[in-house]
Parts: sequence; structure tokens; C-alpha cells
Amino acid sequence: MLERPRRNRKSPVIRKMLEETVLLPSHLIYPLFLVEGKAKPSAIKSLPGVFRLNLDDISKEIETCLKLGISTFVLFPVIADEHKDKKATYSYSSKNFYLLAIKSLKKRFPNAMLMSDVAMDPYSTDGHDGLVVNGEIVNDQTLPILAKMAVAQAEAGIDIVGPSDMMDGRIAYIREALDINKFSDVSIMSYTAKYASAFYGPFRDALDSAPKSGDKKTYQMNPANKYEALREAQLDEQEGADILMVKPALCYLDVIHLLKENTTLPIAAYNVSGEFAMLKAACANGWLNYEQAMPEQLLSIKRAGADIILTYFAKDFATLYKKIN
Ligand code: PBG
Repeated sequence: MLERPRRNRKSPVIRKMLEETVLLPSHLIYPLFLVEGKAKPSAIKSLPGVFRLNLDDISKEIETCLKLGISTFVLFPVIADEHKDKKATYSYSSKNFYLLAIKSLKKRFPNAMLMSDVAMDPYSTDGHDGLVVNGEIVNDQTLPILAKMAVAQAEAGIDIVGPSDMMDGRIAYIREALDINKFSDVSIMSYTAKYASAFYGPFRDALDSAPKSGDKKTYQMNPANKYEALREAQLDEQEGADILMVKPALCYLDVIHLLKENTTLPIAAYNVSGEFAMLKAACANGWLNYEQAMPEQLLSIKRAGADIILTYFAKDFATLYKKIN
């Protein structure tokens, strides 16, 4: 036999040397759920091990993660019903605890990167990412609201805004608003190919942000479509996005790969709440080994073409990484 591929697998050293894909804690973004006030950490039943945290507890979490090599965090606010209205006005109010928290976290952790979510759903009585008028999610009237939200987040000190709303034209609209307000250094990580997925369930439990009526299929993408993702990517690129995201990750590895091959922009993938919950549930039942299955899953997302992964596993991965290396 002339060819013996097993020679390149004969020892841990050669296997490590010939590894094609490398995943580091610095490639991960850790999502955190922020609550107003001084409430104790509250568990999210469908997201085992993930908690809604107040500002003090989030600070402690960030401190721990920085030591583990995770430096980027995406923050999601849990908004009380009393702050919600049809137009999501609280999202850019100077009293918004989320904006105040960003300001205080940036002061305390100048070396950490903070990313926001730009969409109306946590702030909206309708629970939709866009403005609802006569039962319809209207595109163009949503854009100024998203822009106000993004500018308010930039004023608070956010490093990266993450429009997750899937309205048409929002990247250009937000970019222009940021630039006019002298925030040309604030990056946009666009949720470029965000699918109308069943895997966001636990996240909506965490924020109580499920749509009050209907679904998100007129703006989020059809899970059957791949080439449409390319079209969204081309638009976001033209409109000034800095990083393109695919969401969810695991059921959409082909989409991650397709976008990676067709852009020079970095690709991010959101390993969403339902994907986290599935693995956690299997591990809790003893059906899968967490320390083996979890890194394998993350690696597959990286191998498919994601440069960056947003994942609830970030802290566990970094802890394991430190233990092994
Ligand atoms: C809000 C938003 C959602 C997620 C991130 N930002 C939910 C949705 O679109 O309904 C989901 C994240 C996850 O499931 O982990 N626009």
C-alpha cells in the first residue's frame, strides 16, 4: 500500500500538528441575559445552567470569563411588561437599564467587547422584531426605530451592534445613523441569514419575548432556502456590515459554508438556545458525554466556515480548554 492515511494519525502529537481546524476561547461570544435591579440570579428552565443576571452578577460573570480568555459578550435585556409598548420606545430611553448597564460595564471592563441586540421584540407589546400595524409587520416604519436603538446603544458605549430583526435595508439605515452621529467606529454584526427556526424557544422563555400573535415567517428566512442567504449576504455587504451571521448554526452548516466561500467578510454563527438545550438534555440523561460532544459540536461550526461562534457553551468550553491545555 502506497497510501496509508493512518500514518498521519499515529500519535497525539502528529494529530495535533495536522489539525485543520482550531477553536479557541477567543473565537467565542458569550450571550448574557440582563435583568433590572437587584434580583437574585434566576434559572431558565429550558436553558440549564444559564441564568438571568443583574448588573453586579453580570460583572462577576464577565470577570470570570475574561480570565478564561472570553472577551466578547452579547447582552440581552429582560424587559418588564410595564416598559413595553407598540413602538418599543423604552429601547432608546435614557432611563433604559440595559443602556445604563452597557455604560457601566464598558467603564469597568474597557478591554472587553460588548455586543447588543437590535430588534424590537423584547420591548414590544406585540413581541415582534418590527412594528406591527393592522396585524402586519411593516418594514420601512421599523427602520427609524432600529436606528434610534442602535444610536442609543452606541452612545452607551457598545462596541458592536447586532441587528437581529431581518427588516430589509436596515444595515444601510443603521450604518448611516451611526455615522451621522459620529459612531463610525461602532461595528455592525448583521444577523444576515436568520431563519424562522423552532430552535429559539428557550431564548424566548428567557426573555418572555415570544410573538403575541402569528409567527416571524414574513421576515425571518424559510429553513428550506440556501441561495436566498447569499442574496441577503450580498445586500448586507453592500450596505456596510462588518461581520455576517448565520443563525441557527447546527442545522445550517451548509449555509455557513456557502457564505464563507462567497464573501471576504468574517462569518459568525449563532449556536442558538434550542441547540444548547438539546445537547444539555441528552447529557443530563447520560446519553452523550458533555466534555466530548460539546467541543465536537462547536468545532463542526468552525469547520463549516464560521470564524466566530455565539454560544451558551462559551464558558464551559473555555473552562475545558484551560483544563486540557
Ligand atoms: C431577537 C433574538 C432572538 C434570538 C436572538 N435575538 C429570538 C427571535 O428572533 O425570536 C434567538 C437566540 C437564541 O435562540 O439563542 N430578535
